[in-house]
Amino acid sequence: MNPTQSLRDDLKAVLLDESTIARRLDTLASELAALYRGKPLVVVALMNGSYVFASDLLRRLDLPLEVAFLRVFSYSGTASSGTICFHESPLPSLNGRHLLLLDDILDTGATLQAVCRHFEALAEAESIRSCVLLRKRTPRHHGALADHVGFEIEDLFVVGYGLDYCDRYRQLPVIGVLRDELI
Ligand code: IMP
Ligand code: MG
Repeated sequence: MNPTQSLRDDLKAVLLDESTIARRLDTLASELAALYRGKPLVVVALMNGSYVFASDLLRRLDLPLEVAFLRVFSYSGTASSGTICFHESPLPSLNGRHLLLLDDILDTGATLQAVCRHFEALAEAESIRSCVLLRKRTPRHHGALADHVGFEIEDLFVVGYGLDYCDRYRQLPVIGVLRDELI
């Protein structure tokens, strides 16, 4: 019996399973390691959605780095509210260091754009790049594009691997689509 079987039963489709995600993270981590080797690096992961992605990706990165977490909200239910709220938390100094932002999914791009602008305005980091696990192919996209993307997906609301529906399903190890009657 799978430990998260009852959550999986709420999915009508699995888009990305554990091994597919793991293989892609291996490749993303090698790209990032090549890019940042020898450079002082700060990774800022956007909470809560990227906690699983950040944890699995960073454990593949054999580099000295500092990781910090920034809490950002934009979604209510299955739609982006359009307003990005930050919880200001103490972040490491970025002076003379390279910043890599991690997020779970790029939908409209508004969240990543707001966060990038925030760090650009500080004008501290040597460079700012972003890496998202998923990018939706959506006509709603108007914000930032990510520099590194794990997977392009269809314009569907997905859960699992950190992504939630009303704060549930984050611990599901796969990424999938909820059955219609649950939304
Ligand atoms: P954006 O600002 O529209 O790009 O939305 C990005 C944020 O919305 C992500 O960080 C997620 O937290 C959330 N989000 C977007 N699409 C989904 C989804 O399909 N499932 C769960 N959360 C999502
Ligand atoms: Mg998020």
